[in-house]
Amino acid sequence: TNNRFKLRLRNAAQVVAVSTTRETFKKGAAMNTVAIIEDATVVVGLDGTVVAVARETELATQQWYCDAVFDDDVDARGKAVVPGLVDGHTHPVWAGDRVNEFEQKLAGATYMEIHLRGGGIGYTVAQTRAASEEALLELTMGRLDRMLAQGTTLVEAKSGYGLDADSELKLLRVLKRAKDAHAVAVSPTFLGAHSVPRGMSAADAAADVVHKQLPVVVAARDAGLVDVDNIDVFMEKGVFDYSQTDGILSAGKAAGLCLNFHGDELNHMQAAELGAKLGARAISHLEEISKDGIAAMATNNVFGVLLPTTAYVLRIAPPPAREMIDSGVPIALGSDFNPNAHCLSMPFVMNLAAVTMKMTLNEALVAATLNSAASLNKSDMHGSIEVGKWGNLVLIDSPLWTHLVYEMVDAPIAAVYVKGSLAKK
Ligand code: NIG
Ligand code: FE
Repeated sequence: TNNRFKLRLRNAAQVVAVSTTRETFKKGAAMNTVAIIEDATVVVGLDGTVVAVARETELATQQWYCDAVFDDDVDARGKAVVPGLVDGHTHPVWAGDRVNEFEQKLAGATYMEIHLRGGGIGYTVAQTRAASEEALLELTMGRLDRMLAQGTTLVEAKSGYGLDADSELKLLRVLKRAKDAHAVAVSPTFLGAHSVPRGMSAADAAADVVHKQLPVVVAARDAGLVDVDNIDVFMEKGVFDYSQTDGILSAGKAAGLCLNFHGDELNHMQAAELGAKLGARAISHLEEISKDGIAAMATNNVFGVLLPTTAYVLRIAPPPAREMIDSGVPIALGSDFNPNAHCLSMPFVMNLAAVTMKMTLNEALVAATLNSAASLNKSDMHGSIEVGKWGNLVLIDSPLWTHLVYEMVDAPIAAVYVKGSLAKK
């Protein structure tokens, strides 16, 4: 019947809608508002989209609601609901681990010292090239499971541990298979410019990305063999410089990809200025951003995707989140899950954002939902609990949503729903 619905979460103490007006993202003071509805109910239709989100007493006056039948009818009394979390930056496809480097870093080695002595990305590339597509798929699926258990329902996911056309294509095929098979939505990113392969110059590596890897990736995309939304570059001293990054991103832009890259992380590189010039969608890290860079990103609505796990694990100063928000840069958050920062939990990232980067809890939630979705150009269907968007919902075992961030490390998540279906208890 047309009065049958997939899911009702009823009488929640709080439903944090984040937005109620279909705004595509928030910046400045607006980042501090999250639209909380008390004693509220969410209804998701058979197609997986939200049909109603309102106070239970208001819905109870409507005839359609009184006559409705729900396949899954959940009493959410004493619990809170937030939108499915969106992880704006991850590297989930790799084999091997670098726990030995964790110990070296604790003993004082820097990221670049480890990189230059053959560890870091180079080590992971060797392990990942040697791994089969099946093995990488299994690893990636397991990581998506763990992200989902922590409330993530949309994730940006990079290639980048292949660094040649065949290996990058293998990683992108893994991402497509994971995307097609897993409940978590995936926005794949081509990161052939993640590092300079051993024995090559940066100029040759950049040329390889533009003239060999990218054409192969675009052809595979056009043939439906892989999905690619975004292009990324590790723009950093000793990796790709300003003009190489400019060339790679411009080629990606010409191929119809969103520009979403690593910049101003360990050294100031004018990444923010470059991103603004090129019309980038997002720039990640930004620990070393300049005042001019902040102004350029604010003016051009370039998303700053901040990754508090990086500064934490490398013991460096975090990015100036407060200054960026107050200057009007739209801010998103990501876990940066990778072998250097082994974090799959957005609630922990939100905790770090609040404690180490002085973001308010509301700002952290907006950054981890609506703004992360918008940084991936997916806020039409993700990032807030609004009629017409996917019914992606995190049910929190507390009447106050803030416990999601306050209860460090093991977030009190009772259930996660994707498109109105129970995806994780
Ligand atoms: O975002 N900075 C470059 N990429 C990752 C690290 C990847 C790695 O070390 O394997 C990052 O921190
Ligand atoms: Fe990264």
